[in-house]
Amino acid sequence: MERVLPFRFDEKEGVFWLLDQRKLPLEEVWVPVRTAREMAEAIRAMVVRGAPAIGVSAAYGMVLAHLSGEDPEESDRLLRQSRPTAVNLFHALDRMRAHWGDLEGSLEEAWALWREVEATERAISLHGAKVLRGQVLTHCNTGPLATGGYGTALGAIVEAHRQGRVAHVWVDETRPYLQGARLTAYELKKAGVPATLITDNMAGFLMAQGRVDAVIVGVDRMALNGDFANKIGTYTLAVLAHHHGIPFYAALPLSSVDPSLESGRGIPIEERSPEEVLELRGVRIAPMGVAAYHPAFDLTPHRYLTGIITEKGVLYPPFAEALRDALGIA
Ligand code: MRU
Repeated sequence: MERVLPFRFDEKEGVFWLLDQRKLPLEEVWVPVRTAREMAEAIRAMVVRGAPAIGVSAAYGMVLAHLSGEDPEESDRLLRQSRPTAVNLFHALDRMRAHWGDLEGSLEEAWALWREVEATERAISLHGAKVLRGQVLTHCNTGPLATGGYGTALGAIVEAHRQGRVAHVWVDETRPYLQGARLTAYELKKAGVPATLITDNMAGFLMAQGRVDAVIVGVDRMALNGDFANKIGTYTLAVLAHHHGIPFYAALPLSSVDPSLESGRGIPIEERSPEEVLELRGVRIAPMGVAAYHPAFDLTPHRYLTGIITEKGVLYPPFAEALRDALGIA
């Protein structure tokens, strides 16, 4: 599969280059990031997005802090404030904390984190491919652009297609940021997987017609009982799939599980600017003066999940036990 990665690191120049995901697929523009402060702003503005990709970028943000002489504590604080929902950001920064003041150590840790993302996603793709068949529906973007590796849910879809199990993908456009239309459609096209774009409100009609065999999505943060936050619209899909008796899977690295949360109630849900709803790619679509609401994620209760696809295999209910086992916690 041809993979487009969301970033590359030029160690000699001390620059972390981000592929500007706000401009894809119409333009491929690379943005240089030289400081942790700039990285925090790039994550906030969604130049780079997707839970694992945010984690790797934040780790390199700390590398840049060392290279550019910024205070590690202040850099860590700025990066932690960039986006609240994906736990990978905090997980990566926790790991980098052990190397504050140590450039070599921070370089090694960031590189190790990136390599782990690749290895876990290869495993997730292979495990996930086994449970998918026919026509699958996915939401948001969970491919290499969202991770820096092979992708989670989209990695499994591409692998299942390679194995001849998945024939076709329904791609939710994913309003308001259009990750599905702009990024997933772009990645599936590059991977040579037949895909059809739909707007988010078409899923129920397709399910009722028997044209969806499985739904698979990614995860920004999962609690220990399997409740999870993912892109706004995921919950709606979960309820629809449940109603129609269609298998519904979440794919994630175990590092996206927050062991401090027993249930999804404590997951912080990011609220973004209403402008992103009032406009479509910068073009105003609603009358001036109209209010808009923009939660960027929603919460899906674990009871709607058929299985949780991880690097250690596919977990089935009861999820609280299965997740604890997989994480090795009592
Ligand atoms: O707001 P985004 O684009 O960062 O949201 C991304 C998602 O919701 C993905 O589904 C999630 O991060 C999983 S990525 C493998």
